[in-house]
Formats: sequence, structure tokens, C-alpha cells
Amino acid sequence: MSSSAVAPLIVVVGSANMDLVVHASRLPLRGETLLGERFETVNGGKGANQAVAAARVGGTVAMVGCVGGDAFGASLRDALHRERIDGAHVHTIASQPSGIASITVGRDGANSIVVAPGANACVSTAHVDAAADLIARADMLIGQLEVPLATIAHAINIAARNGTPVLLNPAPAQPLPDTLYRQIDYLLVNETEAALLTGLHVSGVPCARFAADALLGKGVRNVIVTLGAQGAIWAGAQGSGYMAAPVVRVVDTTAAGDTFAGGFAVVRASGASMQQSIAFAQRAAAASVTRAGAQPSIPFLAELEEDSISEV
Ligand code: RIB
Repeated sequence: MSSSAVAPLIVVVGSANMDLVVHASRLPLRGETLLGERFETVNGGKGANQAVAAARVGGTVAMVGCVGGDAFGASLRDALHRERIDGAHVHTIASQPSGIASITVGRDGANSIVVAPGANACVSTAHVDAAADLIARADMLIGQLEVPLATIAHAINIAARNGTPVLLNPAPAQPLPDTLYRQIDYLLVNETEAALLTGLHVSGVPCARFAADALLGKGVRNVIVTLGAQGAIWAGAQGSGYMAAPVVRVVDTTAAGDTFAGGFAVVRASGASMQQSIAFAQRAAAASVTRAGAQPSIPFLAELEEDSISEV
């Protein structure tokens, strides 16, 4: 998106987590105790990460969510405020802890994540109703599944009734109601999520195409399957294609998908083609994996100018 264009309004309904991150030589095996290396706390959560990603590339962003009445909650709120994200619909639930994610990152950049939702489980249809006007006039609604599915389904319903395009990143994946698929403009999935939603084995480009066709069959308008270092495929009302990912030195893949989602939403809502939007989102995600942490790794628009990402 050019810095002179009118910023699209992106509304994110989703989670905010404090990430408790241990860097280790590798991920532990089942039942194994592994001595790790450094530990850090990092602002994260798929919803907040996607909101930050959209804001950093020029979107006007508002978030609907919940944090706990603890120090993590205050930090997560401050982080949104620093990014100029409208947090009027981010509620503090005094009786709950904030969501946390226990994350291990190996030296190859791969991670494993377990989330304890805490206050994220309290994001309700009433919270969404309070933001209904905002959703109705948004240029894109983004949702994920670290908050209750019923809440996300309700937000999607409001968006669909008002002609607001919907991007759903069904992560962590769970089966979706049939009616929901028909209200989704952009379903953004990785291979694991595509496999869970379709029951198919999804690994690599040909499988991803097959899974995308199955998801289109359920009524989604466009499907994007991200394949990590192998790139992404898309299919749907706007045509289909494959795009290779930029080759970069991977430090930490945490929030790569979130960076893709936020970047895609802003550029697509600004009127770019699917191909342009995916190319931009891939550049943003590639930049994010060269740095550690969730929100600290998410790039700003100026970093995404052509040739500014150092490829291996
Ligand atoms: O997608 C990455 C995010 O997943 C992390 O920031 C963590 O909080 C989990 O929600």
C-alpha cells in the first residue's frame, strides 16, 4: 500500500497473549526435559499480532478482545496503544488472568506453542455487538480461533450482513459450521489447518491445491494456503495461482502467519489484486521470520520496499 493512499479500516476480533518464550537448541521430544537457552516475555496472541501487522503497514486498526486484570494485561494494552490501534473494545476482565502462550523456539526457527486462553475465553457476542457499527463500516474483518468460535461466527455474521469482507484465519484449527464457510471471503490456512478442515493429507503444493478446492466446495469465496518456505497457493473467485516465498535466513517463525494475515488484509482492502496482496503479505512474513518474537518481529511498511529484505 502506498503511504499516500487512504488507510483502510481493519477490525480484528481475537486474542492477545503474553508469550513466554524459551529459545532452545531444538524442540523437546515427548516426555523429554531439555535445558533451554534464553527466556523472554513478548507481546503476542494471534489477534493482537494480526492487528499490529495491519497497523504497521498502514491500516487504521481497531481490535475487539479481552485481557486479564494483571500486569500482562496492562502490557498487552500498552502495546496496542503504542501501535495506534483503537483499543476501546479491548476489555479488562479483572477476575481472569491474561492469555499466555508457552513457546519453545528451536535454533532452526521452528516452534511449538501451547496457549492458556485466560481472558481470551471471555470475548463474547455482547463484546462484538458493542463493536457492530465499527465492523459494519470496516474495509475488512479479521478473525482467528483463540477466542470462542461462537463469538467469531457472530462477528462474521455482522460483517456479512453489512457487506464487510471477512478474512478468517482458523488457527488453532477446529471444525467450522457449514454456514460459516459461505460467509468467508478469504480463508487463510496453513497445511495443518487445511488438513484439519478437509480431512485430507496436506503437504506441498499439489495437496494444497486439492485442499483449496475442497474448501471452495464448502462455499468459501477465496482460499489461501500458506506453505512456509515453499510459498503459498490461492484459489477462488479471483482466480488461482502459486507464489514462491522469498528465501531468507530463518530465526523464528512465530507470528509469520499473523504477519501475512495483517499485511494481506490491508493491501487487499486497499484494492490490490490477489496476486499483489499475496506477494506483499509474503514479503512481510519473510521479514518477520528473520527476527525473534511475535510482535517485535513484525515489519513496518518502509522495510518492505522492493529489495529491502536481505535474502540468503
Ligand atoms: O501465531 C503466533 C501466536 O500464537 C503467538 O504470539 C502466541 O501468542 C500464539 O497465540
